[in-house]
Amino acid sequence: MRSCLLSGAHCYLFCLWALLVPPVCLQHASHHRRKDHGGGGDDGGEGSGRDKPKPKLLLLSFDGFRWDYLNRVPTLNFDALKQEGVKVEVVENTYITKTFPDHYSLVTGLHAESHGIVANEMFDPVLNRSFSMETDSIYDPRWWEEGVPLWVTNQRAGGRSGAAMWPGSDVKIHGVYPTHYLPYNASVPFEARVEKLIQWFAAPDEEAVDFGVLYWEEPDESGHNLGPESSLMDVVIADIDEKLGFLRNELKKAGLYERLNLIVTSDHGMTQLFPEKIIELDQYVSRELYTWVDKSPVVALLPKEGRLEEVYSSLLDANPHLNVYKKEDIPEYFHYRHNDRIMPILLEAEEGWTIVQNRSGTFMLGNHGYNNTLPSMHPVFLARGPAFRQDYVKHSMHSVDLYPLMCHILALRPLPNNGSLANVQDLLSVGPSLAPFARPTSASTSNPPSGVTSSYSYAPAVGSLLGVLMVLGFLVVFVKRVTLKQLPALPMQSREMSQPLLQEDLHL
Ligand SMILES: *[C@@H]1O[C@H](CO)[C@@H](O)[C@H](O)[C@H]1NC(C)=O
Ligand SMILES: *[C@@H]1O[C@H](CO)[C@@H](O)[C@H](O)[C@H]1NC(C)=O
Ligand SMILES: *[C@@H]1O[C@H](CO)[C@@H](O)[C@H](O)[C@H]1NC(C)=O
Ligand SMILES: *[C@@H]1O[C@H](CO)[C@@H](O)[C@H](O)[C@H]1NC(C)=O
Ligand SMILES: *[C@@H]1O[C@H](CO)[C@@H](O)[C@H](O)[C@H]1NC(C)=O
Ligand SMILES: [Zn+2]
Repeated sequence: MRSCLLSGAHCYLFCLWALLVPPVCLQHASHHRRKDHGGGGDDGGEGSGRDKPKPKLLLLSFDGFRWDYLNRVPTLNFDALKQEGVKVEVVENTYITKTFPDHYSLVTGLHAESHGIVANEMFDPVLNRSFSMETDSIYDPRWWEEGVPLWVTNQRAGGRSGAAMWPGSDVKIHGVYPTHYLPYNASVPFEARVEKLIQWFAAPDEEAVDFGVLYWEEPDESGHNLGPESSLMDVVIADIDEKLGFLRNELKKAGLYERLNLIVTSDHGMTQLFPEKIIELDQYVSRELYTWVDKSPVVALLPKEGRLEEVYSSLLDANPHLNVYKKEDIPEYFHYRHNDRIMPILLEAEEGWTIVQNRSGTFMLGNHGYNNTLPSMHPVFLARGPAFRQDYVKHSMHSVDLYPLMCHILALRPLPNNGSLANVQDLLSVGPSLAPFARPTSASTSNPPSGVTSSYSYAPAVGSLLGVLMVLGFLVVFVKRVTLKQLPALPMQSREMSQPLLQEDLHL
Protein backbone atom coordinates (compact mmCIF):
# COMPACT_ATOMS: atom_id res chain seq x y z
CA MET A 1 0.00 0.00 0.00
CA ARG A 2 1.57 3.26 1.07
CA SER A 3 4.61 1.56 2.54
CA CYS A 4 6.58 2.27 -0.61
CA LEU A 5 6.36 5.97 0.19
CA LEU A 6 7.92 5.54 3.58
CA SER A 7 11.52 5.53 4.52
CA GLY A 8 13.42 2.50 5.77
CA ALA A 9 12.43 2.05 9.38
CA HIS A 10 8.83 3.00 8.73
CA CYS A 11 8.56 0.68 5.80
CA TYR A 12 9.72 -2.12 8.02
CA LEU A 13 7.13 -1.28 10.67
CA PHE A 14 4.37 -0.97 8.13
CA CYS A 15 5.20 -4.36 6.70
CA LEU A 16 5.18 -5.75 10.22
CA TRP A 17 1.82 -4.11 10.74
CA ALA A 18 0.43 -5.58 7.54
CA LEU A 19 1.44 -9.01 8.75
CA LEU A 20 0.02 -8.55 12.22
CA VAL A 21 -3.34 -6.91 11.64
CA PRO A 22 -5.99 -9.59 11.82
CA PRO A 23 -7.93 -9.98 8.57
CA VAL A 24 -11.17 -9.29 10.40
CA CYS A 25 -10.07 -5.68 10.89
CA LEU A 26 -8.82 -5.15 7.41
CA GLN A 27 -12.24 -5.76 6.00
CA HIS A 28 -13.08 -2.32 7.20
CA ALA A 29 -10.36 -0.68 5.20
CA SER A 30 -12.86 0.81 2.76
CA HIS A 31 -14.76 2.56 5.53
CA HIS A 32 -13.60 6.01 4.59
CA ARG A 33 -12.52 5.32 1.08
CA ARG A 34 -15.03 7.46 -0.66
CA LYS A 35 -15.72 6.56 -4.21
CA ASP A 36 -13.36 8.01 -6.76
CA HIS A 37 -14.98 10.54 -8.97
CA GLY A 38 -13.71 11.88 -12.27
CA GLY A 39 -13.98 15.33 -13.80
CA GLY A 40 -13.79 18.79 -12.30
CA GLY A 41 -10.77 20.59 -10.97
CA ASP A 42 -8.51 22.95 -12.79
CA ASP A 43 -4.94 23.97 -12.48
CA GLY A 44 -3.65 27.09 -10.84
CA GLY A 45 -1.10 29.28 -12.53
CA GLU A 46 2.60 29.19 -11.87
CA GLY A 47 4.67 32.00 -10.44
CA SER A 48 5.37 33.69 -7.19
CA GLY A 49 4.14 37.27 -7.51
CA ARG A 50 2.89 38.49 -4.15
CA ASP A 51 2.88 42.23 -3.88
CA LYS A 52 -0.38 42.92 -2.07
CA PRO A 53 -0.48 41.76 1.53
CA LYS A 54 -3.81 39.96 1.46
CA PRO A 55 -4.37 37.56 4.33
CA LYS A 56 -4.00 33.90 3.45
CA LEU A 57 -5.42 30.95 5.31
CA LEU A 58 -4.98 27.20 4.94
CA LEU A 59 -7.14 24.83 6.95
CA LEU A 60 -5.76 21.30 7.21
CA SER A 61 -7.56 18.29 8.64
CA PHE A 62 -5.91 14.98 9.44
CA ASP A 63 -9.00 12.79 9.74
CA GLY A 64 -9.36 11.18 13.16
CA PHE A 65 -6.29 12.83 14.72
CA ARG A 66 -7.15 12.60 18.40
CA TRP A 67 -5.82 15.49 20.50
CA ASP A 68 -3.56 13.32 22.66
CA TYR A 69 -1.85 11.47 19.82
CA LEU A 70 0.75 14.21 20.19
CA ASN A 71 1.82 12.72 23.51
CA ARG A 72 2.63 9.30 22.10
CA VAL A 73 5.65 9.82 19.89
CA PRO A 74 7.98 12.73 19.19
CA THR A 75 6.10 15.10 16.89
CA LEU A 76 8.64 17.78 16.07
CA ASN A 77 6.51 19.51 13.46
CA PHE A 78 3.44 19.76 15.65
CA ASP A 79 5.71 20.99 18.46
CA ALA A 80 7.10 23.67 16.18
CA LEU A 81 3.59 24.87 15.29
CA LYS A 82 2.78 25.16 18.96
CA GLN A 83 5.91 27.15 19.65
CA GLU A 84 5.40 29.40 16.64
CA GLY A 85 1.69 29.75 17.19
CA VAL A 86 -1.19 28.56 19.30
CA LYS A 87 -2.50 25.28 20.59
CA VAL A 88 -5.95 24.55 22.01
CA GLU A 89 -5.97 21.60 24.36
CA VAL A 90 -9.67 20.75 24.43
CA VAL A 91 -11.75 21.20 21.31
CA GLU A 92 -15.33 20.08 21.73
CA ASN A 93 -16.54 19.05 18.31
CA THR A 94 -20.11 18.73 17.11
CA TYR A 95 -22.39 15.77 17.55
CA ILE A 96 -22.43 13.23 15.96
CA THR A 97 -18.66 12.93 15.97
CA LYS A 98 -18.34 11.61 12.42
CA THR A 99 -16.35 12.67 9.38
CA PHE A 100 -18.86 14.43 7.15
CA PRO A 101 -20.86 16.22 9.86
CA ASP A 102 -17.77 17.48 11.66
CA HIS A 103 -15.92 18.61 8.55
CA TYR A 104 -18.96 20.57 7.43
CA SER A 105 -19.26 22.15 10.88
CA LEU A 106 -15.65 23.35 10.61
CA VAL A 107 -16.37 25.29 7.40
CA THR A 108 -19.89 26.51 8.28
CA GLY A 109 -19.74 27.08 12.05
CA LEU A 110 -23.04 25.22 12.32
CA HIS A 111 -24.15 22.22 14.34
CA ALA A 112 -25.12 19.24 12.21
CA GLU A 113 -28.85 19.86 12.71
CA SER A 114 -28.37 23.30 11.14
CA HIS A 115 -26.04 22.50 8.24
CA GLY A 116 -27.94 19.37 7.23
CA ILE A 117 -25.05 16.91 6.92
CA VAL A 118 -26.29 15.05 9.96
CA ALA A 119 -24.37 11.80 9.32
CA ASN A 120 -22.13 9.94 6.90
CA GLU A 121 -25.19 7.88 5.97
CA MET A 122 -28.54 9.67 5.85
CA PHE A 123 -32.06 9.49 4.55
CA ASP A 124 -34.05 12.59 3.65
CA PRO A 125 -37.78 11.85 3.83
CA VAL A 126 -38.67 15.03 1.91
CA LEU A 127 -36.28 14.33 -0.95
CA ASN A 128 -37.00 10.60 -0.55
CA ARG A 129 -33.28 10.01 -1.07
CA SER A 130 -30.37 8.41 0.69
CA PHE A 131 -26.93 9.90 1.19
CA SER A 132 -23.88 7.73 1.67
CA MET A 133 -20.25 8.72 1.68
CA GLU A 134 -19.61 5.48 -0.19
CA THR A 135 -21.67 6.55 -3.23
CA ASP A 136 -22.09 9.37 -5.74
CA SER A 137 -25.11 10.58 -3.75
CA ILE A 138 -22.79 13.08 -2.09
CA TYR A 139 -22.59 15.03 -5.37
CA ASP A 140 -26.25 16.05 -5.13
CA PRO A 141 -25.96 19.69 -3.92
CA ARG A 142 -29.30 19.56 -2.14
CA TRP A 143 -27.69 17.71 0.75
CA TRP A 144 -25.23 20.53 1.36
CA GLU A 145 -27.26 23.68 0.84
CA GLU A 146 -28.69 24.12 4.33
CA GLY A 147 -25.25 25.55 5.06
CA VAL A 148 -22.86 27.74 3.09
CA PRO A 149 -19.24 26.60 3.28
CA LEU A 150 -16.58 29.24 3.81
CA TRP A 151 -15.09 28.78 0.35
CA VAL A 152 -18.40 29.88 -1.19
CA THR A 153 -18.65 32.93 1.09
CA ASN A 154 -15.06 33.77 0.30
CA GLN A 155 -15.71 33.67 -3.43
CA ARG A 156 -18.92 35.67 -3.15
CA ALA A 157 -16.85 38.38 -1.49
CA GLY A 158 -14.34 38.38 -4.33
CA GLY A 159 -11.83 35.96 -2.80
CA ARG A 160 -10.42 32.81 -4.36
CA SER A 161 -10.45 29.37 -2.79
CA GLY A 162 -8.50 26.15 -3.29
CA ALA A 163 -9.64 22.75 -2.06
CA ALA A 164 -7.88 19.40 -1.88
CA MET A 165 -10.31 16.59 -1.02
CA TRP A 166 -12.16 18.30 1.84
CA PRO A 167 -15.58 16.64 2.19
CA GLY A 168 -18.03 18.58 0.04
CA SER A 169 -15.41 20.64 -1.72
CA ASP A 170 -15.94 18.92 -5.07
CA VAL A 171 -19.69 19.45 -4.93
CA LYS A 172 -21.35 22.39 -6.65
CA ILE A 173 -22.87 24.00 -3.56
CA HIS A 174 -25.12 27.04 -4.03
CA GLY A 175 -24.08 27.08 -7.67
CA VAL A 176 -20.31 27.24 -7.23
CA TYR A 177 -17.28 25.03 -6.91
CA PRO A 178 -14.14 26.23 -5.15
CA THR A 179 -12.07 28.37 -7.55
CA HIS A 180 -9.62 25.45 -7.73
CA TYR A 181 -10.27 21.99 -6.41
CA LEU A 182 -9.27 18.37 -6.74
CA PRO A 183 -12.05 15.85 -7.32
CA TYR A 184 -12.07 13.34 -4.49
CA ASN A 185 -9.61 10.52 -5.05
CA ALA A 186 -8.22 8.73 -2.00
CA SER A 187 -5.25 7.50 -4.05
CA VAL A 188 -3.79 10.96 -4.54
CA PRO A 189 -0.87 11.19 -2.10
CA PHE A 190 -0.72 13.89 0.55
CA GLU A 191 2.36 15.34 -1.09
CA ALA A 192 0.52 15.81 -4.40
CA ARG A 193 -2.37 17.53 -2.64
CA VAL A 194 0.07 19.89 -0.94
CA GLU A 195 1.86 20.69 -4.17
CA LYS A 196 -1.41 21.66 -5.86
CA LEU A 197 -2.45 23.90 -2.99
CA ILE A 198 0.92 25.61 -2.94
CA GLN A 199 0.68 26.24 -6.66
CA TRP A 200 -2.68 27.90 -6.11
CA PHE A 201 -1.49 29.97 -3.15
CA ALA A 202 1.72 31.03 -4.87
CA ALA A 203 0.13 32.10 -8.15
CA PRO A 204 0.42 35.77 -9.22
CA ASP A 205 -1.65 37.92 -6.91
CA GLU A 206 -4.75 38.35 -9.05
CA GLU A 207 -4.90 34.57 -9.52
CA ALA A 208 -3.74 33.38 -6.11
CA VAL A 209 -6.15 31.76 -3.70
CA ASP A 210 -6.47 33.28 -0.25
CA PHE A 211 -8.34 30.41 1.39
CA GLY A 212 -7.45 26.74 1.12
CA VAL A 213 -8.73 23.49 2.62
CA LEU A 214 -6.71 20.29 2.74
CA TYR A 215 -7.87 16.85 3.84
CA TRP A 216 -5.96 13.64 4.56
CA GLU A 217 -7.59 10.27 5.36
CA GLU A 218 -5.13 9.24 8.09
CA PRO A 219 -4.84 8.54 10.99
CA ASP A 220 -8.57 7.72 10.88
CA GLU A 221 -8.28 4.66 8.70
CA SER A 222 -5.51 3.09 10.76
CA GLY A 223 -7.31 4.08 13.95
CA HIS A 224 -10.33 2.05 12.87
CA ASN A 225 -8.26 -0.93 11.81
CA LEU A 226 -5.69 -1.07 14.60
CA GLY A 227 -7.53 0.57 17.46
CA PRO A 228 -6.14 3.82 18.87
CA GLU A 229 -4.46 2.09 21.80
CA SER A 230 -2.40 -0.18 19.58
CA SER A 231 1.30 0.62 19.71
CA LEU A 232 1.30 0.22 15.94
CA MET A 233 -0.52 3.54 15.80
CA ASP A 234 2.71 5.23 16.87
CA VAL A 235 4.13 4.69 13.40
CA VAL A 236 1.05 6.20 11.81
CA ILE A 237 1.24 9.25 14.08
CA ALA A 238 4.94 9.70 13.33
CA ASP A 239 4.11 9.57 9.63
CA ILE A 240 1.50 12.30 10.03
CA ASP A 241 4.11 14.48 11.73
CA GLU A 242 6.37 13.93 8.74
CA LYS A 243 3.56 14.90 6.42
CA LEU A 244 3.10 18.11 8.37
CA GLY A 245 6.85 18.61 8.03
CA PHE A 246 6.56 18.21 4.29
CA LEU A 247 3.86 20.88 4.17
CA ARG A 248 5.87 23.31 6.31
CA ASN A 249 8.88 22.78 4.18
CA GLU A 250 7.06 23.28 0.91
CA LEU A 251 5.45 26.46 2.25
CA LYS A 252 8.88 27.76 3.16
CA LYS A 253 10.29 26.90 -0.24
CA ALA A 254 7.42 28.80 -1.86
CA GLY A 255 8.02 31.84 0.37
CA LEU A 256 4.58 31.42 1.91
CA TYR A 257 5.40 30.22 5.39
CA GLU A 258 5.61 33.59 7.12
CA ARG A 259 2.60 35.18 5.49
CA LEU A 260 0.17 32.28 5.44
CA ASN A 261 -2.02 31.36 8.39
CA LEU A 262 -2.04 27.61 8.89
CA ILE A 263 -4.63 25.82 11.01
CA VAL A 264 -4.09 22.12 11.69
CA THR A 265 -7.01 20.27 13.18
CA SER A 266 -9.26 17.27 12.71
CA ASP A 267 -12.88 16.25 12.66
CA HIS A 268 -12.89 13.91 15.67
CA GLY A 269 -10.84 11.51 17.76
CA MET A 270 -11.05 7.73 18.11
CA THR A 271 -11.76 5.25 20.88
CA GLN A 272 -10.81 1.62 21.41
CA LEU A 273 -13.49 -1.03 20.80
CA PHE A 274 -13.71 -4.47 22.36
CA PRO A 275 -14.96 -7.64 20.63
CA GLU A 276 -16.99 -8.58 23.70
CA LYS A 277 -18.72 -5.19 23.87
CA ILE A 278 -21.36 -5.88 21.24
CA ILE A 279 -25.03 -4.91 21.23
CA GLU A 280 -27.03 -7.18 18.90
CA LEU A 281 -30.28 -5.55 17.87
CA ASP A 282 -31.70 -8.79 16.46
CA GLN A 283 -31.95 -10.05 20.03
CA TYR A 284 -34.43 -7.29 20.84
CA VAL A 285 -36.37 -6.28 17.75
CA SER A 286 -37.16 -7.77 14.35
CA ARG A 287 -35.38 -6.29 11.36
CA GLU A 288 -38.71 -6.28 9.54
CA LEU A 289 -39.87 -3.39 11.68
CA TYR A 290 -37.31 -0.75 10.71
CA THR A 291 -34.80 0.50 8.15
CA TRP A 292 -31.22 0.77 9.36
CA VAL A 293 -30.00 4.21 8.17
CA ASP A 294 -26.76 5.10 9.96
CA LYS A 295 -24.05 2.92 11.48
CA SER A 296 -22.62 2.26 14.92
CA PRO A 297 -22.04 3.80 17.40
CA VAL A 298 -24.95 6.18 16.70
CA VAL A 299 -27.47 4.16 14.77
CA ALA A 300 -30.36 5.97 13.09
CA LEU A 301 -33.46 3.84 12.68
CA LEU A 302 -36.47 4.59 10.49
CA PRO A 303 -39.33 2.45 11.81
CA LYS A 304 -41.75 1.06 9.27
CA GLU A 305 -45.09 2.87 8.98
CA GLY A 306 -46.97 2.65 12.27
CA ARG A 307 -44.21 0.69 14.06
CA LEU A 308 -42.45 3.50 15.93
CA GLU A 309 -43.80 2.68 19.39
CA GLU A 310 -43.14 -1.03 18.98
CA VAL A 311 -39.51 -0.53 17.93
CA TYR A 312 -38.95 2.05 20.63
CA SER A 313 -40.39 0.04 23.50
CA SER A 314 -38.56 -3.12 22.39
CA LEU A 315 -35.22 -1.34 22.58
CA LEU A 316 -35.75 1.11 25.41
CA ASP A 317 -34.53 -1.03 28.31
CA ALA A 318 -33.01 -3.76 26.22
CA ASN A 319 -29.34 -3.22 27.00
CA PRO A 320 -27.67 -1.19 29.75
CA HIS A 321 -24.96 -0.03 27.30
CA LEU A 322 -27.46 1.38 24.83
CA ASN A 323 -29.16 4.78 24.96
CA VAL A 324 -32.42 4.86 23.02
CA TYR A 325 -33.98 8.18 22.05
CA LYS A 326 -37.06 9.20 20.21
CA LYS A 327 -36.01 12.13 18.06
CA GLU A 328 -37.81 14.66 20.25
CA ASP A 329 -36.03 13.30 23.34
CA ILE A 330 -32.47 13.60 22.07
CA PRO A 331 -30.69 15.70 24.72
CA GLU A 332 -30.72 19.40 23.91
CA TYR A 333 -26.96 19.71 24.45
CA PHE A 334 -26.30 17.53 21.43
CA HIS A 335 -27.98 20.13 19.17
CA TYR A 336 -29.08 17.16 17.15
CA ARG A 337 -32.82 17.18 16.76
CA HIS A 338 -34.17 19.85 14.45
CA ASN A 339 -33.70 18.35 11.03
CA ASP A 340 -35.80 16.09 8.80
CA ARG A 341 -32.74 13.95 8.21
CA ILE A 342 -32.53 12.98 11.87
CA MET A 343 -34.51 9.77 12.09
CA PRO A 344 -37.37 9.05 14.52
CA ILE A 345 -35.15 6.75 16.63
CA LEU A 346 -31.52 7.30 17.55
CA LEU A 347 -29.49 4.59 19.28
CA GLU A 348 -26.30 5.57 21.01
CA ALA A 349 -23.78 3.04 22.28
CA GLU A 350 -21.75 3.61 25.42
CA GLU A 351 -18.11 4.40 24.70
CA GLY A 352 -16.25 1.31 23.49
CA TRP A 353 -19.44 -0.55 22.54
CA THR A 354 -20.55 -1.47 19.03
CA ILE A 355 -24.14 -1.79 17.77
CA VAL A 356 -24.78 -4.49 15.17
CA GLN A 357 -27.79 -6.41 13.93
CA ASN A 358 -26.04 -9.71 14.48
CA ARG A 359 -22.45 -10.83 14.87
CA SER A 360 -21.98 -11.94 11.30
CA GLY A 361 -20.57 -8.61 10.13
CA THR A 362 -17.07 -7.21 10.28
CA PHE A 363 -15.63 -5.74 13.42
CA MET A 364 -13.47 -2.66 13.91
CA LEU A 365 -11.00 -2.05 16.70
CA GLY A 366 -11.51 1.70 16.79
CA ASN A 367 -14.45 4.02 16.19
CA HIS A 368 -15.86 7.50 16.77
CA GLY A 369 -19.32 9.03 16.71
CA TYR A 370 -19.86 8.94 20.49
CA ASN A 371 -20.79 11.78 22.87
CA ASN A 372 -18.89 14.90 21.82
CA THR A 373 -17.99 15.65 25.45
CA LEU A 374 -15.83 12.51 25.65
CA PRO A 375 -12.11 13.37 25.56
CA SER A 376 -11.51 10.44 23.20
CA MET A 377 -13.71 12.14 20.59
CA HIS A 378 -11.78 15.41 20.61
CA PRO A 379 -9.53 16.53 17.75
CA VAL A 380 -6.13 18.17 17.78
CA PHE A 381 -5.91 21.95 17.20
CA LEU A 382 -2.89 24.11 16.40
CA ALA A 383 -2.45 27.25 14.35
CA ARG A 384 0.33 29.61 13.36
CA GLY A 385 0.86 32.58 11.10
CA PRO A 386 0.68 36.37 11.18
CA ALA A 387 -2.87 36.37 12.56
CA PHE A 388 -2.00 34.19 15.53
CA ARG A 389 -0.19 34.73 18.79
CA GLN A 390 2.99 32.83 19.43
CA ASP A 391 3.70 30.11 21.94
CA TYR A 392 0.22 30.39 23.41
CA VAL A 393 -1.83 27.54 24.84
CA LYS A 394 -5.56 27.93 25.28
CA HIS A 395 -7.57 25.52 27.36
CA SER A 396 -10.75 25.00 25.36
CA MET A 397 -12.97 26.02 22.49
CA HIS A 398 -15.84 24.64 20.44
CA SER A 399 -15.09 23.53 16.92
CA VAL A 400 -17.87 25.81 15.64
CA ASP A 401 -15.88 28.80 16.94
CA LEU A 402 -13.35 28.18 14.20
CA TYR A 403 -15.69 29.52 11.53
CA PRO A 404 -16.03 33.08 12.88
CA LEU A 405 -12.29 33.02 13.60
CA MET A 406 -11.50 32.13 9.99
CA CYS A 407 -13.94 34.76 8.72
CA HIS A 408 -12.19 37.31 10.86
CA ILE A 409 -8.77 36.35 9.50
CA LEU A 410 -10.04 36.58 5.93
CA ALA A 411 -11.98 39.78 6.70
CA LEU A 412 -15.25 38.17 5.65
CA ARG A 413 -18.62 38.81 7.18
CA PRO A 414 -19.65 35.52 8.80
CA LEU A 415 -23.08 34.10 8.00
CA PRO A 416 -25.31 33.23 10.97
CA ASN A 417 -23.56 30.43 12.85
CA ASN A 418 -23.28 28.65 16.19
CA GLY A 419 -19.77 29.77 17.05
CA SER A 420 -18.40 32.83 18.75
CA LEU A 421 -15.39 34.93 17.85
CA ALA A 422 -15.30 36.21 21.43
CA ASN A 423 -14.55 32.66 22.62
CA VAL A 424 -11.38 32.45 20.55
CA GLN A 425 -10.19 36.01 19.99
CA ASP A 426 -7.39 35.50 22.50
CA LEU A 427 -5.76 33.26 19.87
CA LEU A 428 -5.25 36.28 17.65
CA SER A 429 -2.10 38.37 17.58
CA VAL A 430 -4.14 41.54 17.12
CA GLY A 431 -7.57 42.05 18.66
CA PRO A 432 -10.52 41.83 16.28
CA SER A 433 -11.45 45.50 16.54
CA LEU A 434 -9.73 46.67 13.37
CA ALA A 435 -11.73 47.34 10.19
CA PRO A 436 -13.44 44.00 10.38
CA PHE A 437 -15.24 43.58 7.09
CA ALA A 438 -13.29 45.67 4.63
CA ARG A 439 -11.93 43.68 1.73
CA PRO A 440 -9.24 43.69 0.58
CA THR A 441 -7.78 44.11 4.01
CA SER A 442 -4.74 46.00 4.99
CA ALA A 443 -2.04 44.37 7.01
CA SER A 444 -3.89 45.39 10.15
CA THR A 445 -5.41 42.01 10.81
CA SER A 446 -2.27 40.20 9.90
CA ASN A 447 0.60 41.95 11.59
CA PRO A 448 2.84 39.59 13.45
CA PRO A 449 3.63 40.55 17.02
CA SER A 450 6.31 43.19 17.26
CA GLY A 451 9.84 41.96 17.49
CA VAL A 452 9.20 39.17 15.02
CA THR A 453 10.85 39.48 11.68
CA SER A 454 8.52 38.57 8.89
CA SER A 455 8.96 38.30 5.16
CA TYR A 456 5.41 39.61 4.93
CA SER A 457 6.10 43.24 4.12
CA TYR A 458 9.28 42.47 2.22
CA ALA A 459 7.73 40.03 -0.17
CA PRO A 460 9.36 41.31 -3.37
CA ALA A 461 12.78 41.26 -1.76
CA VAL A 462 12.21 37.77 -0.51
CA GLY A 463 11.22 36.74 -4.00
CA SER A 464 14.55 37.82 -5.42
CA LEU A 465 16.55 36.45 -2.50
CA LEU A 466 14.74 33.16 -2.38
CA GLY A 467 17.39 31.16 -4.16
CA VAL A 468 20.17 32.44 -1.93
CA LEU A 469 18.11 31.86 1.21
CA MET A 470 17.26 28.36 0.17
CA VAL A 471 20.89 27.43 -0.33
CA LEU A 472 21.71 28.96 3.06
CA GLY A 473 18.69 27.25 4.58
CA PHE A 474 19.75 23.86 3.35
CA LEU A 475 23.26 24.41 4.69
CA VAL A 476 22.03 25.52 8.09
CA VAL A 477 19.56 22.67 8.31
CA PHE A 478 22.25 20.21 7.34
CA VAL A 479 24.57 21.49 10.04
CA LYS A 480 21.69 21.52 12.55
CA ARG A 481 20.79 17.99 11.76
CA VAL A 482 24.31 16.87 12.41
CA THR A 483 24.41 18.94 15.60
CA LEU A 484 20.99 17.80 16.77
CA LYS A 485 22.10 14.23 16.58
CA GLN A 486 24.45 15.01 19.46
CA LEU A 487 22.11 17.44 21.23
CA PRO A 488 18.63 15.97 20.88
CA ALA A 489 17.01 18.19 23.52
CA LEU A 490 18.24 21.49 22.11
CA PRO A 491 15.25 23.84 21.85
CA MET A 492 14.57 25.31 18.44
CA GLN A 493 15.94 28.84 18.38
CA SER A 494 15.45 30.27 14.95
CA ARG A 495 12.03 29.46 13.63
CA GLU A 496 12.91 30.01 10.03
CA MET A 497 16.09 28.03 9.74
CA SER A 498 15.96 25.32 12.34
CA GLN A 499 13.39 22.95 10.91
CA PRO A 500 14.85 19.59 9.99
CA LEU A 501 13.88 18.49 6.51
CA LEU A 502 12.12 15.44 7.80
CA GLN A 503 10.46 14.76 4.51
CA GLU A 504 13.43 14.74 2.22
CA ASP A 505 13.11 11.07 1.37
CA LEU A 506 9.40 11.49 0.69
CA HIS A 507 9.82 13.83 -2.24
CA LEU A 508 8.17 12.20 -5.17
C1 LIG B 1 -39.33 6.92 -2.67
O1 LIG B 1 -38.39 6.33 -3.57
C2 LIG B 1 -38.59 4.94 -3.74
C3 LIG B 1 -37.50 4.45 -4.67
O2 LIG B 1 -36.25 4.85 -4.23
C4 LIG B 1 -39.96 4.67 -4.32
O3 LIG B 1 -40.16 3.28 -4.43
C5 LIG B 1 -41.03 5.28 -3.42
O4 LIG B 1 -42.29 5.15 -4.03
C6 LIG B 1 -40.75 6.75 -3.18
N1 LIG B 1 -41.69 7.25 -2.21
C7 LIG B 1 -42.40 8.34 -2.43
C8 LIG B 1 -43.32 8.74 -1.34
O5 LIG B 1 -42.30 8.97 -3.46
C1 LIG C 1 -6.75 8.72 -8.60
O1 LIG C 1 -5.39 9.03 -8.36
C2 LIG C 1 -4.49 8.05 -8.79
C3 LIG C 1 -3.10 8.46 -8.29
O2 LIG C 1 -2.80 9.77 -8.64
C4 LIG C 1 -4.58 7.92 -10.30
O3 LIG C 1 -3.70 6.92 -10.75
C5 LIG C 1 -6.00 7.55 -10.68
O4 LIG C 1 -6.13 7.54 -12.08
C6 LIG C 1 -6.98 8.56 -10.10
N1 LIG C 1 -8.34 8.12 -10.33
C7 LIG C 1 -9.24 8.87 -10.94
C8 LIG C 1 -10.59 8.28 -11.10
O5 LIG C 1 -8.98 9.98 -11.35
C1 LIG D 1 -26.92 -12.47 10.47
O1 LIG D 1 -27.42 -11.60 9.45
C2 LIG D 1 -27.13 -12.01 8.14
C3 LIG D 1 -27.68 -10.96 7.22
O2 LIG D 1 -27.06 -9.75 7.49
C4 LIG D 1 -27.76 -13.35 7.86
O3 LIG D 1 -27.44 -13.76 6.55
C5 LIG D 1 -27.26 -14.35 8.86
O4 LIG D 1 -27.94 -15.58 8.70
C6 LIG D 1 -27.47 -13.86 10.29
N1 LIG D 1 -26.83 -14.77 11.20
C7 LIG D 1 -27.40 -15.22 12.29
C8 LIG D 1 -26.60 -16.15 13.13
O5 LIG D 1 -28.54 -14.90 12.59
C1 LIG E 1 -22.58 13.04 27.35
O1 LIG E 1 -21.61 13.66 28.16
C2 LIG E 1 -22.14 14.57 29.12
C3 LIG E 1 -21.00 15.26 29.82
O2 LIG E 1 -20.03 14.34 30.21
C4 LIG E 1 -23.00 13.79 30.10
O3 LIG E 1 -23.56 14.71 31.03
C5 LIG E 1 -24.10 13.10 29.34
O4 LIG E 1 -24.84 12.29 30.22
C6 LIG E 1 -23.55 12.25 28.22
N1 LIG E 1 -24.66 11.82 27.42
C7 LIG E 1 -24.83 10.59 27.07
C8 LIG E 1 -26.05 10.30 26.30
O5 LIG E 1 -24.04 9.71 27.36
C1 LIG F 1 -27.24 27.67 15.13
O1 LIG F 1 -27.21 28.71 14.17
C2 LIG F 1 -28.32 28.69 13.30
C3 LIG F 1 -28.08 29.79 12.28
O2 LIG F 1 -28.02 31.02 12.92
C4 LIG F 1 -29.60 28.88 14.07
O3 LIG F 1 -30.70 28.78 13.19
C5 LIG F 1 -29.71 27.82 15.14
O4 LIG F 1 -30.84 28.04 15.94
C6 LIG F 1 -28.45 27.83 16.01
N1 LIG F 1 -28.51 26.73 16.95
C7 LIG F 1 -28.40 26.92 18.24
C8 LIG F 1 -28.44 25.71 19.10
O5 LIG F 1 -28.26 28.02 18.74
ZN1 LIG G 1 -13.66 7.33 10.72
